[in-house]
Amino acid sequence: MDFSTQSNISFIKQKIDDLEKITDQENPYTRIVFSKKFYEARSWLKNEYQKLGLIVSTDDAGNLIGLLKSKTNTEKVVIIGSHIDTVPSGGRFDGIAGVVAALCVVKHIKENDINLPFNLAVYDYLGEELNDWSISCIGTRGMIGALNQEILSRSNASGKILKDEIDKIGGKSNLLTKPFSIIENIVACLELHIEQGKVLEQKNIDIGIVRSIPSISRFSVEVNGQAGHSGTILMDQRADALVTSSEIITFVNKLASRLAKESNQHFVSTIGKINVHPNAAAIIPGKVEMTIDLRASSKSSRDQYIKELEKQIETMNQSGPCKIKMKNIAFAPYVEMDKELVKLFKISSDEYGFSNIIMDSGAGHDTAHLSRVAPASMIFVPCMDGLSHCPEEYAEISDISKGTSVLFKMVEKLASLNKN
Ligand code: GLV
Ligand code: MN
Ligand code: MN
Repeated sequence: MDFSTQSNISFIKQKIDDLEKITDQENPYTRIVFSKKFYEARSWLKNEYQKLGLIVSTDDAGNLIGLLKSKTNTEKVVIIGSHIDTVPSGGRFDGIAGVVAALCVVKHIKENDINLPFNLAVYDYLGEELNDWSISCIGTRGMIGALNQEILSRSNASGKILKDEIDKIGGKSNLLTKPFSIIENIVACLELHIEQGKVLEQKNIDIGIVRSIPSISRFSVEVNGQAGHSGTILMDQRADALVTSSEIITFVNKLASRLAKESNQHFVSTIGKINVHPNAAAIIPGKVEMTIDLRASSKSSRDQYIKELEKQIETMNQSGPCKIKMKNIAFAPYVEMDKELVKLFKISSDEYGFSNIIMDSGAGHDTAHLSRVAPASMIFVPCMDGLSHCPEEYAEISDISKGTSVLFKMVEKLASLNKN
């Protein structure tokens, strides 16, 4: 079944349009996890699950599940999931395309009364995007037992504690200490996502079959100087936290550029979040907080980066006017996708005659966490100019529908491999 039919194209377009409307109106497209708009989108999704006749539940990690039970009595499950939360002023497709594609696959299975030898579960993984608690992929980290007490007890800027938010949305934060029992029954975790880069578009390829996802590390950096009057403190008497921070920003950018060239593998680092205190034009900045984001496929390059950055900070602490503290606040290791599923994705794509390549992901994904405990793999579809995490993000519905066809074919193939 090729999903590029008018009815599937209309279905996918309609669902993406529906979700597009659930945004902070002043800041499209913004649907931050646990926000009012996020709750609204979850109600929308619950309703979509119900319309498809799925059994709706929220698991202990706050993931919203729509379950299509097999007519055969089995505990085995294939998960198709992605996320409906966004970054601030993000796009309409990141995560959303994957959830909508999953709904479309289920619609087709229901309409054609196809019986599967496993249960099929659509997941909206909770809070995939990095949030105010400095942790991404809350739902999948929860599923694999990777949320510890330090993370769960974190508060955001308005004093809200992460574990309270998980409980409010229907999770059970006190039960998140070990991997969920469902993991033993997972046949495969599949995800469709927009590429968020330019490879597919530039090469005019329909489907990217993901082979690996880089490690992601995040560090908080606090620079403490001395606030003071911008008119009276002379230039050689200052401990300006923002000036010191700018040196760190430049250092990080140069270091990552060098290591990216040397390693010849995916290696990028960004400082995209910075708070300046007190942030007033007539006051010398007294304190700065920043977050460093680092993505690396090579462990040795990552280790080298951390070593050189720590050394630089030590030198600046010894000779500069400010005191700098750096702390590791999140880590997800480099992972490879399940080789059999990668092969099966390729065969599924070939059978439709869709051009495809095996590629490495640059972004992080929930599938990275799940791949540590269960067979998992994902596919990418092209997106315009590689733009993502911005309102201009765009993917052609016809491209998403090709990816949806491949996703369905995978389910079909897994079904014939798991017939009992
Ligand atoms: C996910 O959106 C990421 O930051 O890679
Ligand atoms: Mn995403
Ligand atoms: Mn994202």
